[in-house]
Amino acid sequence: MKILILGGGGREHAIGKKLLEGNINIILYFYPGNGGTKLIGSNIEKKCSILDLAMFSKKNNIELTIVGSEIFLVQEVVDLFQFYQLNIIGPNYYSSRLEGDKIFGKSFMKKYGIRTPEYETFDSYNEAKKFLKKKNNPLVIKFNGLASGKGVIIAHNQNDYKKAIKNIMIENKFGKNGKKIIIEEYLNGKEVSILSIFNKKRIIPFLSSKDYKKIGNNDCGLNTGGMGSITPNPYMNSAMWTDFNKNILQPTFEGLISEKLTFLGFLYFGLMIYNNKIYLLEYNTRLGDPETQSLLPLMKNNFLYMLKSFFYEDKINILWKNYSSCCIVLSSLGYPEKYKIGNCISNLDKLEEPFYIAGARKENQQWYTSGGRVLNVIGIDKNIKYARENAYKKINNIKCNNLYYRKDIGLY
Ligand code: AMP
Ligand code: GLY
Repeated sequence: MKILILGGGGREHAIGKKLLEGNINIILYFYPGNGGTKLIGSNIEKKCSILDLAMFSKKNNIELTIVGSEIFLVQEVVDLFQFYQLNIIGPNYYSSRLEGDKIFGKSFMKKYGIRTPEYETFDSYNEAKKFLKKKNNPLVIKFNGLASGKGVIIAHNQNDYKKAIKNIMIENKFGKNGKKIIIEEYLNGKEVSILSIFNKKRIIPFLSSKDYKKIGNNDCGLNTGGMGSITPNPYMNSAMWTDFNKNILQPTFEGLISEKLTFLGFLYFGLMIYNNKIYLLEYNTRLGDPETQSLLPLMKNNFLYMLKSFFYEDKINILWKNYSSCCIVLSSLGYPEKYKIGNCISNLDKLEEPFYIAGARKENQQWYTSGGRVLNVIGIDKNIKYARENAYKKINNIKCNNLYYRKDIGLY
């Protein structure tokens, strides 16, 4: 069976490795892929439009495409593949707006009574400025589009507010969609990510995870795409699961059905536990990066069989290992702002599994950094304490100038 995976991060390497477990007859293709995916399949090296990718799939008899990265979703890749009768896992454009258009996502949450922080939306810089003049509490100012986790600014005072709206709305720092913003109540709580799978008839949540979004130790500094993750999330006790099922999952399912936002794919709930209640911050319509990298090693099922039987026969029985997993992201120094690439990485070939490559490439037997997030190292143990120790021990052997990682992943 030939499978195409769209994306070039650690998540896509993890999806590829998991698909290969127990399935010897799979041939993997990646676009654009990375130095790691090249070791387990073929990267499509030339620059492709989504139409090129559909034609490639037709010509090469690709039986299934899995969309890893959101970038392809907002380009309407699913609609196009379906037009050519190609099997693809992911939301059509209409449904992907839950992620790609944050204002659409928030109004969906309001309409269906899904618990979410209070918010206002603005498309005028002057109106936003006027609204913020009366405020003096921490607020979250969000760019209304995709920005790899970086378009969310936590602003504490008048100076921060001014800088944030200027960056987004005047200087278009995160992209052209900067004309629209969300200003949201700031919740200082514990983050939870719940990834789930949706087949138009049911949503089945996976284990909970915790993503470490900020660049610095103790959650300091700028938001990033994610600097580490653990699975399961220790804050997600049974009371929180009950709260999630009642106030987030069930009304989401009802809303998706009512609004015909249905698809075969993944739904990611970005959550915050605050004052013992769970709030939904955002939906993503794909798997999370780096949550996937700590989650998939704990799945006992044959991943491909699980996907096929759920999507095409509505049968599912997911079994999880009773272990904890800790994923540490090694990034280029300077990320999420400016950074240099092309640094040599030593001992990567000796790294013990599981690990996943993101922004790294191999040339003449030598590994080099090639992106912001470079490598994901995973530790697994019955106890999260030893899972994290295991991951950090593995990192000690990696030698590279200008690589950075947080020291507190897994310390909650
Ligand atoms: P989002 O893309 O909306 O999930 O935001 C990205 C990250 O920004 C979240 O994972 C949180 O770390 C942070 N964030 C977003 N909204 C809030 C909020 N209302 N309160 C506190 N932190 C937030
Ligand atoms: N870990 C955050 C994301 O995948 O968006």
